[in-house]
Amino acid sequence: MTRVFINGYGNIGRRLASAILGDKEIQLLGIAKYTADKKTQEALQNGLDIYVPKEKMEEFTEKSYRPIGIIEQAVEGCDIVIDAAKEGGGFLNKRKIYNPMNKPAIFQGGEHRHGKYSVADMIHNSRVNYEKASGRTYVIQGSCNVSGMGRIIQPMIETFGEEITRFDVALIRRWADLEDSKQVKDSIEWDVNPHHQDDVKDFIPTANLYVDAYKVPSRMMHLHQMSIRFKTKAPNKDSIIETFRKEFGIAILNSASGTAQVRKKAMEMGFSHGDTNMVHIHQEVVRVEEDTVKIPYSDDQTGMVIPENYLLLQSMLKKLSKQDALAKADRLFQMSHKKKTLEEEFN
Ligand SMILES: NC(=O)c1ccc[n+]([C@@H]2O[C@H](COP(=O)([O-])OP(=O)(O)OC[C@H]3O[C@@H](n4cnc5c(N)ncnc54)[C@H](OP(=O)(O)O)[C@@H]3O)[C@@H](O)[C@H]2O)c1
Repeated sequence: MTRVFINGYGNIGRRLASAILGDKEIQLLGIAKYTADKKTQEALQNGLDIYVPKEKMEEFTEKSYRPIGIIEQAVEGCDIVIDAAKEGGGFLNKRKIYNPMNKPAIFQGGEHRHGKYSVADMIHNSRVNYEKASGRTYVIQGSCNVSGMGRIIQPMIETFGEEITRFDVALIRRWADLEDSKQVKDSIEWDVNPHHQDDVKDFIPTANLYVDAYKVPSRMMHLHQMSIRFKTKAPNKDSIIETFRKEFGIAILNSASGTAQVRKKAMEMGFSHGDTNMVHIHQEVVRVEEDTVKIPYSDDQTGMVIPENYLLLQSMLKKLSKQDALAKADRLFQMSHKKKTLEEEFN
């Protein structure tokens, strides 16, 4: 049985833990906590074993959180680490722990692919390069925005190929996640050099892609406005929608009024953590004019990358075929069911 350790128990780590607990072929060795706070209690209540830094053993024990061991012991005992540290933490963990122990690891999208803080030489996007991750030791799972863009751009390229001359994307990013305690600032802020453009080009190098990113005062998902320019007249709206109809992790909605309505519906329907785990194309606002197609879609920030991490694990460690891995992910995350439910609700 594959033994997995999740290093970090924030928005991403918590979701990864609940997903992996549902797979009977994987043993979740435990999770790492660095702060002896209420989330530790939650992890214990969920039946998780907790590992902490050596110097924090006493603090956790004093609060009766009873860690089962230190982080290094968990890394030693697992087959692969899923690192879910805050941006940059993965780099330090790799240098201090994973590398010396020669332990494979998955990193999250907040880590660097290039430069002196680079943690891996590839970014995974299951729609594009699942097979390339097979047997690798270190791979980055693209961030939620990067995963979403890959999911839309790749089918467009496969269907319309060289007819497309350019992709322009405005990323309208949520300020914070629902669980975050940080305040949402009343401001619209821009990103001078969004990493998302280079990240997507890393796995779709042929895409002539330009990305602008703005952060808005919301906690309810990202919204991307993608404009796709064609050499001549653009295809009609029906053929654009058909391109995505059967795609894994894409729902086509027709009557949602905004991102909050989709998120609240996911919560109301009892989806795990209130996540849809996908992108939602808002069909009623897809437009085709002359040589340009505009596709607005919302992107489930926290949920988006959880099935992606799971798929990446199947590729790196188990070298499973993409078809089998997708079938497993579909069962575990109920992707087809969620897609059908959302499409019926927002018909
Ligand atoms: N949030 C999203 O929507 C989202 C989507 C896609 C990708 N990502 C990426 O996923 C990563 C994690 O984001 P997040 O939103 O889950 O962050 P988060 O909620 O702030 O959680 C970060 C976690 O890191 C833990 N931590 C502290 N020091 C650590 C260390 N040395 N090694 C490992 N973990 C450590 C913290 O533990 P304590 O709480 O115990 O201190 C905390 O639980 C980032 O790279 C981010 O860019 C996030």
